[in-house]
Amino acid sequence: MCGIVGYVGRGNAIKPVLAGLNNLEYRGYDSAGVAFCSDTVFHSVKQVGRVSALESELAGLAITKPNLAIGHTRWATHGSPTKLNAHPHYNGSRTIFVVHNGIIENHEEIRSMLESANYHFVSKTDTEVIPHLIDYFYQKFGNMDKAFETAVKELKGAYAIVMSTKHEPTKIYAARLSSPLVIGLGKDSNMVGSDASAVADSSEQIIYLDDYELAIVERKTYKIKNFKDKKAVDRQPEEIVLEDVAASKGDYEHFMLKEIFEAPKTIQNSILGRINLDTNTVKLGGLESVENNLRNIDRIIILACGTSYYAGLVGEYLLEEIAQIPVEVQLASEFKYRKEPLGKNTAILAISQSGETADTIAALKKVEDLGLLRIGIVNAPGSTIARMTDAGVYCHAGPEISVASTKAFIAQVSVLNLIALWLGQGKSSLYKELLTNLAVLPKTAEKVLALAPTIQQIAEKYAHHSDFMFLGRQYEFPMALEGALKLKEISYIHAEGYAAGEMKHGPLALIDENFPTFALCASKNLYEKTASNLQEVKARSGKIITVTTKETTKAVKNLSNENIVIPEVPDQHLPILEAIVVQLFAYYTALARGTDIDKPRNLAKSVTVE
Ligand code: AGP
Repeated sequence: MCGIVGYVGRGNAIKPVLAGLNNLEYRGYDSAGVAFCSDTVFHSVKQVGRVSALESELAGLAITKPNLAIGHTRWATHGSPTKLNAHPHYNGSRTIFVVHNGIIENHEEIRSMLESANYHFVSKTDTEVIPHLIDYFYQKFGNMDKAFETAVKELKGAYAIVMSTKHEPTKIYAARLSSPLVIGLGKDSNMVGSDASAVADSSEQIIYLDDYELAIVERKTYKIKNFKDKKAVDRQPEEIVLEDVAASKGDYEHFMLKEIFEAPKTIQNSILGRINLDTNTVKLGGLESVENNLRNIDRIIILACGTSYYAGLVGEYLLEEIAQIPVEVQLASEFKYRKEPLGKNTAILAISQSGETADTIAALKKVEDLGLLRIGIVNAPGSTIARMTDAGVYCHAGPEISVASTKAFIAQVSVLNLIALWLGQGKSSLYKELLTNLAVLPKTAEKVLALAPTIQQIAEKYAHHSDFMFLGRQYEFPMALEGALKLKEISYIHAEGYAAGEMKHGPLALIDENFPTFALCASKNLYEKTASNLQEVKARSGKIITVTTKETTKAVKNLSNENIVIPEVPDQHLPILEAIVVQLFAYYTALARGTDIDKPRNLAKSVTVE
């Protein structure tokens, strides 16, 4: 998953292209590059690492202000993060420059066809076949519009492509299949990019391209065509819906810490206008259009990846217990290839922070023609998943910059609580208590944030360990999984999350004095059960950090090497408070280990390839 951008206009094209790349760096930061036309000569500059490295490289060059430029920030799929594999890629005569997001699945086949036609390749990437293939057809037809379209039709896989060429120095060519691509319309310029944040700086309106569409964009004009049915596409531009992507860290050292400390506001924003304590009701405007369908479904399949998948696991417990609806949570990347019977009264619920995760999009596409109800819980407005689902609920967590998802998870679980209550009204004896407690949860979250210094001390004490076990039961089980993921993502410590009852069926073999356990043991209903599992850990000299409430502490006090006491809430709301604890623990552990917290190695914020 990479970020791509292009600008054609009267101004200096490098500036908006670099601004776009900085906003897209959450998509990948292995390398960055630009190509631009200056005095009719095309140049390309690439650098390994951050966009900032590219900016310093460009700052040292004497460039006459180009009016057209394209750019790329990379997350390596094919070929390691080197300058040679960085984009833009170009043809032998350096007259065609391409940036690409996605995977060309038939690149080897195309490469060998081109090599037998005497084309020479310099990189190990799949992308490099594109400029050579366009050149191949340009030699054949002598017309760039035709050459571009013909080449694109040869490609299999997922792609968003932006191309510029010496042969048409006033045009930017773009094409999309599965990977997101937009056109940004400005006063005296037009742009293309991976999402709204790429073009926002110089555009007032936006057009979302759909699959099998290509566009030829010039300073004042653009034309879109569907290259499958060869028809021209006339799509109305939309206002750019963009939350302030250039959010600053404020006084926080990292976006992750800032986003963790936004928890009270995040919960507040996700329930705002959706809970009415006077009438004891929940209002979800985004689902009202499908309310009748939803009330007749007999099964929900939740689809998601990573942290969103763990939010889905919490949702499973909530929807089954409160709304009495059978739920199955599936990894989107597995669902796509499963051959399971899907009854017509099954609803699909996709959960995604970015709304651009390719695995989740592909899973939703799988059921596109089955007429099943598809709803979404999404944080990014206007994203692909928000636009492809029948209805949904926005999380309103605001832009999440840090790669490790924190506030979006808390917003997703808050929204899942709302949906369970909305569908469970009149079905659950817990309804009133949960509704009332959810309304005051922002305040309770502040009390957990006040534990940060204690959590930091514990994290620093255990940061030298290279393995960690996370345990929990029922609502705390997904939190054990999420806690382990957060620690893995940003501290690079090997961490496993397990249902506490599962320990004795194998993982207990891992435990010794060098393999500490982080145990979530605040559940009013199950803390004694978890305590007995911790006895097993203690018996193997395992060190234990426990998260408890005043009431549950007594059962594990003697077993705990460290203890973090959180406020009492219903078990159903423990995931929201414990998310803050495990996020802070991971953050302070990573801080003590000096890793790159906001942009951890090998990861990216939005995974737009399968
Ligand atoms: C979580 O911290 C990670 N960034 C990752 O697991 C993420 O949750 C996953 O890629 C799903 O992303 P989405 O919510 O944007 O679909």
